[in-house]
Amino acid sequence: MEFIKVTNPVQPHIALIEFNRPKELNALSVPLMSELRNALQDLDADNEVRVIVLTGNEKAFAAGADIKQMADKSAIDMYQIDQFATWDQIKKTKKPIIAAVSGFALGGGCEVAMLCDMIIASETAVFGQPEIKIGVIPGAGGTQRLTKAIGKAKAMEMVLTGKFLSAEEAEKHGLINRVVPVELYLSEAIKLAAQIAALSPIAVKLAKEAVLRSFETHLEEGLIMERKNFYLAFASEDQKEGMAAFIEKRSPNFKGK
Ligand code: CAA
Repeated sequence: MEFIKVTNPVQPHIALIEFNRPKELNALSVPLMSELRNALQDLDADNEVRVIVLTGNEKAFAAGADIKQMADKSAIDMYQIDQFATWDQIKKTKKPIIAAVSGFALGGGCEVAMLCDMIIASETAVFGQPEIKIGVIPGAGGTQRLTKAIGKAKAMEMVLTGKFLSAEEAEKHGLINRVVPVELYLSEAIKLAAQIAALSPIAVKLAKEAVLRSFETHLEEGLIMERKNFYLAFASEDQKEGMAAFIEKRSPNFKGK
């Protein structure tokens, strides 16, 4: 891996992926995103991994897709390269992904953070979709996911003017889970990951799938899917263990079976 660093495990059952193009503020080049896709596929298939944390560095989570790589491309080049197809792996990953964001999360950087399941931000984090300032528009979900997260008025202003949202504002508008001091953003994300990693990994995946469905379907279909996933959880040993532990007044020991 040249453009990302994977630490597995960083703590029991938790894998950490770090973007590693610091000089370019972690601009999301095609090779970087291919590495991310491969790492996510590997970690999703690794039975020991239950939660993934994705981060950049203190100055930048990621400052967007790589503008220098795109600048001279034609529409047909862009269509053939179809760079965002590899980005789909983030939402296809069944295990929860927590973004630990400090500094710039702009353009594709903001879109990648929003593709994750939760966002823990440092107080220096800024979120934005500044594509309009370079003559384009968001291309990896910015107009859709940002609007769903913070509402039309705020999203429209950000997308049409390129205005940034501070971490504090992002928390106020529901884009992120919480803001913490800069020295804590990664440890806080890992702490949240550890909370989830202690639970039944099967139930966690079923729950994630059901929550995500709410963005993609109407209520009745989402409820059907939720109910099926609830019943499906009863196929796991973890369900027997979780309910027995409750009745026997002890802590459960979830095995992911
Ligand atoms: N692509 C390629 N290189 C980038 C980059 C990007 N998105 N963002 C920053 N860099 C590079 C800069 O070119 C610079 O490289 P050099 O030292 O070789 O000149 C280096 O990273 C450091 O950047 P700056 O000197 O600009 O740092 P700064 O602190 O002065 O400014 C910034 C930081 C405000 C984030 C500024 O770099 C910036 O505006 N970056 C672009 C943000 C942007 O427009 N992102 C959207 C990209 S398009 C997109 O993402 C489409 C999509 O929907 C997926």
